[in-house]
Amino acid sequence: MTLLLQNGLPEADVIGLDFCAPLLARAKARGVRKTVEGDALNLPFPQHSFDLVTLAFGLRNFADRPKGLSEIYRVLQPSGVFALLEFSPPPFPWKFFWNFYLFYFMPWIAQLLSRQGDSFRYLARSISQFPAPSDLCHELHQAGLKLLFTRSMSLGLVRLTVTRKI
Ligand SMILES: C[S@@+](CC[C@H](N)C(=O)[O-])C[C@H]1O[C@@H](n2cnc3c(N)ncnc32)[C@H](O)[C@@H]1O
Repeated sequence: MTLLLQNGLPEADVIGLDFCAPLLARAKARGVRKTVEGDALNLPFPQHSFDLVTLAFGLRNFADRPKGLSEIYRVLQPSGVFALLEFSPPPFPWKFFWNFYLFYFMPWIAQLLSRQGDSFRYLARSISQFPAPSDLCHELHQAGLKLLFTRSMSLGLVRLTVTRKI
């Protein structure tokens, strides 16, 4: 996401943030110019710093989702945009197959190939515990972020949600 923004908006000041230093080092190696090691629950930026905040597959991992959303709200300019890309539980009957794949097949394969079964069990749990689209919209609205549009992607497994600071 950071690379796409950096390449697509060459005049913009694009910053990639994570609290995991090795992940930032890999981003740098792939060409991300500006990175900041920091906690999304306590962003190291003044209020109204950004026109756009994007978050890809990260909100699911936040220890305190409302706090993370309130930080995003704080650093956005008035009318700034927040775009979220995150896994989403697919509708019935796909949910049944998806859960089987997530909780049994994927951890089994991961354990077999890389001894990383536990990481994939965590991934499965975090995806299944993430709020459904309507509940997520409610949380975003509570945080002061008004829904602009939402788009289901990858057969409903991923959802793009774009909001604007009220
Ligand atoms: C599944 S990875 C996604 C990484 C990247 N956005 C991508 O799409 O490739 C989730 C990332 O969220 C980061 N993360 C989780 N909680 C965070 C927090 N409070 N502050 C900063 N980063 C956080 C983790 O370190 C991890 O790199």
